Amino acid sequence: MEKYLINPNQKLSKISKDVYGCFSEHLGRCIYEGTYVGEDSPIPNVNGMRTDVVTALKDMGLPVLRWPGGCFADEYHWKDGIGKKENRKKMVNTNWGGVVEDNSFGTHEFFDLCKQVGCESYVAGNVGSGTVQEMAEWKEYITSNADSPITQIRKENGQDEPWKLKYFGIGNENWGCGGLMSPEHYAEVYKNYAIYVAKHDGNKALKIACGPNGADYNWTEVMMKKAYPHMEGLSLHYYTHASGENRATVFDAKEYYDTLKNAYRMEDIVSRHIAIMERYDTINHTALIVDEWGTWYRVEEGTNPAFLYQQNTIRDALVAGLTLNIFNKHSDRIRMATIAQTINVLQSVALTDGEEMVLTPTYYVFKMYKDHHENTLLGSYITTKNIYEGAKLPQLIESASIKEDGTIVSTIVNTSMSENAEVHCQVADFKVKEITAEIVTGDAHDYNDFDKKDVVKIRGFENFKKTEDGFTATLPPCSVVKFIIK
Ligand code: AHR
Repeated sequence: MEKYLINPNQKLSKISKDVYGCFSEHLGRCIYEGTYVGEDSPIPNVNGMRTDVVTALKDMGLPVLRWPGGCFADEYHWKDGIGKKENRKKMVNTNWGGVVEDNSFGTHEFFDLCKQVGCESYVAGNVGSGTVQEMAEWKEYITSNADSPITQIRKENGQDEPWKLKYFGIGNENWGCGGLMSPEHYAEVYKNYAIYVAKHDGNKALKIACGPNGADYNWTEVMMKKAYPHMEGLSLHYYTHASGENRATVFDAKEYYDTLKNAYRMEDIVSRHIAIMERYDTINHTALIVDEWGTWYRVEEGTNPAFLYQQNTIRDALVAGLTLNIFNKHSDRIRMATIAQTINVLQSVALTDGEEMVLTPTYYVFKMYKDHHENTLLGSYITTKNIYEGAKLPQLIESASIKEDGTIVSTIVNTSMSENAEVHCQVADFKVKEITAEIVTGDAHDYNDFDKKDVVKIRGFENFKKTEDGFTATLPPCSVVKFIIK
């Protein structure tokens, strides 16, 4: 029996709901088909946005959406995506298959989508092939209230009032597709852009600098040394690959555990970046923003390799559950994160095929974890064994938080492919009145598809007993379980 201790007297950081965000790029069928089908589409839509997708994102409580890239951001010229659609300039999307981008989804459409979903917006600007002026004018176009030539164009395009922009990213992966820069060079470039982007601040958008690729600790060191305190956020990208053939639905036990072990590396990676940030920033000014994370497998057979379309199984639900628990535990520094990507690309929350939409196991984990949004992280500890020889992968990975009304929310992931976990939970100085629980579980290979949409979903969980100060429970293999303790 594993011991699980939750301490409501140890109130730690606030868990920002923005940690539960998604990323949408002009890549494959993420925007076009997946989100935006155009007003004339027979697929039900409002202003061209798919009603099924908007409803699903609303229901999962999507707090923030990042757009337009990704690598696409550093070749995107925002002025091509405004004004009458028939006049919008086309471009070639060189990063993602060389397809022709007609710019019918641009700034106005993005903010309309955020409004329909009810989420915050996170725009990534073009450093790699853009200019300081172009980026500053985009920020002005979006947020300024002044009477200026730029805001005049926005008004002529039908938007009188500025939009609310919460986050502005200054470039994307500028160590790679965004310009192949050294950290020393990017830090100087960043400051140059940042100072102009901060002007025209109709609303103060938080400036996010391009951060490290996975375990590149030198990038963080240099950025903190040279650009702190000019950035409110430093982004981190870390993707999880499997081993072997790296396929989404076909994998053996070794590939399963390799995937989860690789996903769990997030704990070590964020801890080490945070430790570096803390040396330069003792007042916790600059947040760590994990704005690209998730699984990245081989594309589904018969699909365009440049479109990064992959299925999503219970294994992905576990990756989502354990990663979100890691983010909760580091919520003092990780104040925003966006999974890659929203629809039809990498570890998506929904997949579409024509007018059909299917919600993935990852979707259900995000929906279940909605209960952590804006709570206070609690001190908690679970005894557990390591189940991967030679690397770190605990069988149980948890986090616990408390709502303002005193309700405790606990989420636990059982990463074992074959073993139950017996857990005895005790909540310090707490008299339990009521507990309810939900679960996402199944065989590791289970997934939802267009002809079997409900194989995986959130189900009620009853395999627990309430005790005076907590519960005892048997968690099945491959499960993500949520307890609501009152
Ligand atoms: O999410 C797909 C790609 O991965 C993004 O465009 C890029 O930023 C990253 O390399």
